Amino acid sequence: MARRDPSFICQSCGAVYGRWQGKCDACGEWNTITEEAASAAPAAPGRAPRKGRKFALEPLAGASHDAPRLASGLAEFDRVTGGGFVRGSVLLLGGDPGIGKSTLLIQVAAALARARQRAVYISGEEAVAQVRLRADRLGLAGANVELAAETSIEDIVATLSEGQTPRLIIIDSIQTMWTDMVEAAPGTVTQVRASAQALIRYAKRSGAAVILVGHVTKEGQIAGPRVVEHMVDAVLSFEGEGSHQFRILRAVKNRFGPTDEIGVFEMTGAGLREIANPSELFLSERDLGSPGTAVFAGIEGSRPLLVEIQALVAPTALGTPRRAVVGWDQSRLSMVLAVLEAHCGVRLSGHDVYLNVAGGLRIQEPAADLAAAAALVSSLANAPLPADAVYFGEVSLSGAVRPVAQAAARLKEAQKLGFARAIVPEAARSEGRGDGDLTLDYVGSLASLVADIVARGRRPTRSDRRTIGDD
Ligand code: TYD
Ligand code: MG
Repeated sequence: MARRDPSFICQSCGAVYGRWQGKCDACGEWNTITEEAASAAPAAPGRAPRKGRKFALEPLAGASHDAPRLASGLAEFDRVTGGGFVRGSVLLLGGDPGIGKSTLLIQVAAALARARQRAVYISGEEAVAQVRLRADRLGLAGANVELAAETSIEDIVATLSEGQTPRLIIIDSIQTMWTDMVEAAPGTVTQVRASAQALIRYAKRSGAAVILVGHVTKEGQIAGPRVVEHMVDAVLSFEGEGSHQFRILRAVKNRFGPTDEIGVFEMTGAGLREIANPSELFLSERDLGSPGTAVFAGIEGSRPLLVEIQALVAPTALGTPRRAVVGWDQSRLSMVLAVLEAHCGVRLSGHDVYLNVAGGLRIQEPAADLAAAAALVSSLANAPLPADAVYFGEVSLSGAVRPVAQAAARLKEAQKLGFARAIVPEAARSEGRGDGDLTLDYVGSLASLVADIVARGRRPTRSDRRTIGDD
């Protein structure tokens, strides 16, 4: 391969340009294009291209490694990876600075070391003493984790290739690593990509599992090229609201397991604590009996999860009413508001609407439609919903309430946590009611739910009366 001229690469999306420009045409970012040496492996000029080596093809059916998975010892972590680390796999863990990535990984490494597996933690950001200090605080100082503060990929691979192969290697973070193979500065797209490639090659060759920590940009994407996400076997994201102690570990991509499972942790003074029953946590600070809150019986992966949805609907002081949502999909909210307007006679064009999912959780299921609608109408009508009720159901554009998957698991969880009633889609009637003695209220349309809530209103104010159901 002939050596090419330097090229200009967008640090945000990886697009390549022949010359510098202020704005990246591919992703629209400004001032992200920097000059980098283009060729990844400069070949000696004049050398003939290498002749290809023949390799054997193998049948699909065949024995794979023994014990292909290694449980980490943290059940919530294993739930997200799909049952532990796969040999030779590379996992990317992304998250905001300070969210607890290093804390989580030193805990994982210590748990493995306690199970007498060789675990290596390489920090490019902190000195060994700092990592030790943290481990001390976490009560992990006794664990046999091997530490280093290094950033050179060649040195790291050379060191790890000696002796017994580690079962787990943590690289904190990939943005601080650099390899001699390319000339670009550490942290640039080219360096991150080349370093990740070298570590992936090492993992596949040695059978060690590697975890790369990746920084996240302001927009929430893993900084550096998206290509690293394509190169690795799994991408996990560690999330949480700064003001909450809950942390959610989520699989964004997983070649060896599901992507819909979440792991729930709580950040405490002594590190991350696993939360085996998250519903209790998300409902622990409930505001009983005030209008505008509804409990949604959700499912995250295979696990039911009850969470409070809070709404505030207030007359707007501005020309354009505000619609703000935290923890749910903005377009889903717009849809529910449109259905309320079109089919239920709820006028919201003069109201600001705020919707929040308690505890910093992010909900992706359409099954939350019914609970969101109930919370919105409850706030507007100043009518508190029954404190012992849960809601789930998808709202269609026609205003019908549609059934959702895993109704029985949702009901079981609600009952376990002491709820007495569930407001569920009419179509779930045929599915049976499970074995519990929960009272089920079936709703066929959003309009009938709205009518019920408005009827519960203690003393709707005049303006509410004019707003709801006057057509
Ligand atoms: P850290 O793991 O360094 O975050 P990251 O690697 O994602 O940047 O975590 C830093 C935060 O976690 C810091 O704000 C303090 C908090 N923390 C605790 O609350 N308790 C603890 O035991 C530890 C170690 C950290
Ligand atoms: Mg860190």
